[in-house]
Amino acid sequence: MSEGPSAMRVGILTGGGDAPGLNAAICGVWRRLQDVEAVLVPFRDGWGGVIEDRVVHLDPRHMHELVTRGGTILGSSSANPYRDPGRDVPRVKATFARRRLDALVAIGGEGTLLAAERLHREEGLPVVGVPKTIDNDLSATDFTFGFFTAVDRAMTMIDQLRTTADSHHRVMVVECMGRHAGWITAYAGVAAGAEVILVPERPVELNEVFQRLRTLRATGKESAVVAVAEGCRILEDGRLLSSDEKDEYGCYKVGGAGEMVARRIQHALGWEARAIVLGHLQRSGPPGAFDRIFALRLGAKAARLVMERRFGRMSALRNGDVTDVALSEAVGERKVLSPTFIDRYQDFFLVPALSP
Ligand code: F6P
Repeated sequence: MSEGPSAMRVGILTGGGDAPGLNAAICGVWRRLQDVEAVLVPFRDGWGGVIEDRVVHLDPRHMHELVTRGGTILGSSSANPYRDPGRDVPRVKATFARRRLDALVAIGGEGTLLAAERLHREEGLPVVGVPKTIDNDLSATDFTFGFFTAVDRAMTMIDQLRTTADSHHRVMVVECMGRHAGWITAYAGVAAGAEVILVPERPVELNEVFQRLRTLRATGKESAVVAVAEGCRILEDGRLLSSDEKDEYGCYKVGGAGEMVARRIQHALGWEARAIVLGHLQRSGPPGAFDRIFALRLGAKAARLVMERRFGRMSALRNGDVTDVALSEAVGERKVLSPTFIDRYQDFFLVPALSP
């Protein structure tokens, strides 16, 4: 992009866990800004790059094909100016001034967008957001990009695990990502025909899981798949088994649920069980077709918001249309599986909903 004296200067960053489609979103911002000959200032490693004024060079020759690539060419981190606001918020403002930024596009999940919203509201910085997370847990948008690619990865891996489960007559307990939301586990589990799905939104008694598996086994079934969300809430005789430790944001720590469930199934039923954590494979590799196009559109919409100087907004998908919403709305409430969704697929989820 050539820089005329009056060219708009637009910073861009990607923050938080990477998600397939980040590069497509960058590409969408870049392509739309080319129409007005704006200059893109790409920061390295999320808010960390803005705090420390670290930028990367983007080669215009490779920008179009970016849409196909997973990860983020900008790098990412969970750095946040509000961890030490007294020190880092002034540093963010200094970078804006030094780089003569007219705007900044922050592409990220909850943490990244919360910081964007506060910098806009409290400091008046010209920021717009693009929502991303494989967890799909941001309100104000129907879906976030990266989610469907992660679902596809998890579904494919569950499909593949069936052959080894069948061969050894085992229960495979598959732990999926998603933090405190069961979206990935629910979609992948239903799509792969998992016999049981455990999600944070519907705490279950382990006895219910055992009972379901016993019933299946009694029909002659020799293997089964249990899809477990890393943040699922499991009870044993009314006592919560999942971690009650909290992280720095006051949320329950996730992980380890798969191993715990597998061990207990094997012990209670004498049915050999193995746990597997799908982990970061769910967000690795190139984005699927939907996420490529979706992310491109969200990026282009964010660039449009910049051009119209509508700061404090975020691009979003609402009822199938790409539109924009206030950043404050986006970070308001975590979006989790609704009771309606769970009831619709109650065959998979075990019906009794016990409170933790
Ligand atoms: O928020 C995205 C996510 O992939 C979650 O599903 C998962 O719990 C977390 O990030 C893993 O974080 P990290 O990459 O820091 O291990």
